[in-house]
Amino acid sequence: MAVIPDIPANSGTKVFADIIFTLFGLGFILIPLYLIGLVVYNVYFHPLSQYPGPKFMAATRIPYMRMILSGRYPQKTKALHQQYGDVVRIAPDELSFTNGEAWKPIYGTRTGHSQKPKDYRFYAPTFGGNPSIIVSNDADHSRFRRLLSHAFSDSSLRGQEPIIKNYVDLLMQRLHENILDGKNAVDMVAWYNFTTFDIIGDLAFGESFDCLKNSEYHPWISILFSSLKYAAYTNVARRLPGSKYLVPLITPKKIVSRRNTHLALTEEKVKGRITKSNERPDFFGNILKHNNTEKGFSFPELITNGSTLIIAGSETTATLLSGVTYLLLRNPLVLAKLQDEIRSAFTKEEEITLESCNKLEYCLAVLTETLRMYPPVAVGLPRIVDAQGDMIAGNWVPGGTIVSVSQLSASHSPANFKDPEKFIPERHMDDPRFANDSKTAMQPFSFGPRNCIGRNLAYVEMRIILARMVFNFDMELDQPEQDWTDQECFVLWDKPKLMVRLKPRHTV
Ligand code: HEM
Repeated sequence: MAVIPDIPANSGTKVFADIIFTLFGLGFILIPLYLIGLVVYNVYFHPLSQYPGPKFMAATRIPYMRMILSGRYPQKTKALHQQYGDVVRIAPDELSFTNGEAWKPIYGTRTGHSQKPKDYRFYAPTFGGNPSIIVSNDADHSRFRRLLSHAFSDSSLRGQEPIIKNYVDLLMQRLHENILDGKNAVDMVAWYNFTTFDIIGDLAFGESFDCLKNSEYHPWISILFSSLKYAAYTNVARRLPGSKYLVPLITPKKIVSRRNTHLALTEEKVKGRITKSNERPDFFGNILKHNNTEKGFSFPELITNGSTLIIAGSETTATLLSGVTYLLLRNPLVLAKLQDEIRSAFTKEEEITLESCNKLEYCLAVLTETLRMYPPVAVGLPRIVDAQGDMIAGNWVPGGTIVSVSQLSASHSPANFKDPEKFIPERHMDDPRFANDSKTAMQPFSFGPRNCIGRNLAYVEMRIILARMVFNFDMELDQPEQDWTDQECFVLWDKPKLMVRLKPRHTV
């Protein structure tokens, strides 16, 4: 008779527990081994291992994520370029460039290479996942850009001039009311923001945000910056496994709720615009003529694009105007030369128009130099190299690598510009001292088919507003010891107040 071994009643559970225990044990050993292997591979054997950069940034993406969340991405990348040269490996599969020759291969199109796709993890997710002109595949992008470009043509700009002028008139009036003959310092960041948001609100939705009228931010704008910080959190979360669940988990509730309010307000504004005439020379006139056709925008696309136009078109221009005011007041000789140009060109304020401002060469050079010193979009905008790989500024880059030109690093690089930390507008006026400057290295409006559609509009606003500020007021910084450009940056700069004392030259 066979002897049946004495098996304890709970032996099944014990075997199961043993298996789990062994798996845990293996995991405990294998996962760290895998991670160590990955780090060693990334640093020493990865196809990008020959590129310069700190080893800890080549090893894992964690330092990149910390850099994004720190709000110091442009400054830290600039410091890396100063240490390692014109190409730096800033993450295991990502390179940052500063050489002017990198713009075309990364952002342009060339024979044999189609447009490199954007790395969308870098951009905030759009409303309901619907495409916007900035976050869209090539087909949607062409559809949006074709209908929108009408609003940015020279003839549309001329049609928009009276709208812009109304708001600049109101800005001047409000400043005269608020400055108490130079005794009262005013926050020029706020006043420039009020003006550019009112202008873009009118050009996008047919009604301003009434910031200048009420001398305060509209709630839509107060919450805007949260939506930029949202992009920093989603950028980090979307690089981790299970990102779908992580984004809501790691993004602060306040930021999510403010973003939702922003989208609800945009929806309301779009609904308001639809009820107005399509003959206005604004952004939506031409688009709405194609409503309900294949070429047109769906309602959710009107919302995503409306939101994009407001953010892209107002914060950037206000940033540049704040920057130029600060840099002029820190550089009295440049300010004196600009005052001389503007005050001798015009005897009456009404003479300051789109056309007459185009003749102010020094004013243009001052604005261009500000775009170099303090670019409103200071970060590198990431693109993905096509599978076949590509040569970028003399470097072979394998397919799948994420690449960008870091705007702040490129325009502050001593390899590109002589005395890069000095504010010298003459470098943009053929001054022989700067003959070797690499002008193509700075592309503040980006490059290629997805460059800034609003560049000319931005120049119109910047030239008219700067000319009228200098024509109307003598200005001085209220806190001259403060380094105002020392700011955090979440795609756009998080600007502190810029307190300026204004003394009127004329009364209105
Ligand atoms: C000084 C002012 C400005 C600067 C420095 C600037 C800079 C830029 C940059 C760097 C991009 C590329 C973004 C990317 O690739 O992700 C861009 C795109 C864009 N900008 Fe501007 N911008 C300015 C003013 C404006 C204005 C006034 C508007 C008017 C609404 C505008 C509308 C846009 C739009 C719609 C895009 C997306 C274009 C596309 O993807 O086809 N921008 N801008």
